[in-house]
Amino acid sequence: MKRILIIGAGGQIGSELTALLRSIYGGDNVVATDMRDVESLAETGPFHVLNALDAQAYADLVKKYKIDTIFNLVALLSATGEKIPQKAWEINIGALMNSLEIARECGCALFTPSSIGAFGPSTPKDKTPQDTIMRPTTIYGVCKVTGELISDYYHTRFGVDTRSVRFPGLISSLTLPGGGTTDYAVEIFYEAVKTGHFTCPVPSDVYMDMMYMPDALHACVQLMEADPDKLIHRNSFNIASMSFTPEIICNEVKKLVPGFTMDYQIDPVKEAIARSWPNSLDDTCAREEWGWKPKWDLQSMSVDMLKKIQEKKAKGLI
Ligand code: SER
Repeated sequence: MKRILIIGAGGQIGSELTALLRSIYGGDNVVATDMRDVESLAETGPFHVLNALDAQAYADLVKKYKIDTIFNLVALLSATGEKIPQKAWEINIGALMNSLEIARECGCALFTPSSIGAFGPSTPKDKTPQDTIMRPTTIYGVCKVTGELISDYYHTRFGVDTRSVRFPGLISSLTLPGGGTTDYAVEIFYEAVKTGHFTCPVPSDVYMDMMYMPDALHACVQLMEADPDKLIHRNSFNIASMSFTPEIICNEVKKLVPGFTMDYQIDPVKEAIARSWPNSLDDTCAREEWGWKPKWDLQSMSVDMLKKIQEKKAKGLI
């Protein structure tokens, strides 16, 4: 990949992925777009306001910049999706279909994230296999499974170079997630620094897979650079690095922030979603087919998150 376009670049993944891709491939070779005007994205390379549902405007940009790789990061997350399911389908699938068609017409490779949300209550819960039952009960998950299938279809039917990973909950100190079931694992660090107390919306005993953002970004780059002849799977790879419950992360934060306290005010929608998702994923295929290997675990991630958020606080940014 040499000429990259990112849609949804202002989101939790996009804001950091744009910076990483620009550092690797050069600022001018990474075109960031978002439906909102995000000034910071224009500081290090080209930026355009783009509604990814506007296929003509989207295709025009791809042609103008002679793009060869698209990162489709447009999506409403799981908890928001349950409030406005029709809209979630329209946005998540609309952006994907435009991306697939433009990739087909213009010969681009296409990365679209899938998620642990693609699994459901009938999926084996522990060490969830790469190829298994996928019957999600959220609109977000339904969109993700659809996305995996249609992306594989575009690969086999039209030869489009579609690739994807199933992201766990992503934890980062830069851009906040919004409307996800796993957001608590980011919020806990902010509240620990700001007030020393966190009220958790997810029950204490629910395991979910999580990942520190640097590992997630590295996965995007590594998969898109992988030798296509080695890829048996495409849409989408299980990747994993850590799995914990609210109680486990609370104890980790307590070790680092003396006096930290946590209580619970359960959000029934988030509880139902969290309980329908796997406890942990088996990522053997990603390790074997393109060398996936995470660097961060719960302990090292927690130390780094708190350090970065404390720095933000010292600068008056939070
Ligand atoms: N972080 C997402 C969510 O909670 C899952 O991919 O919706």
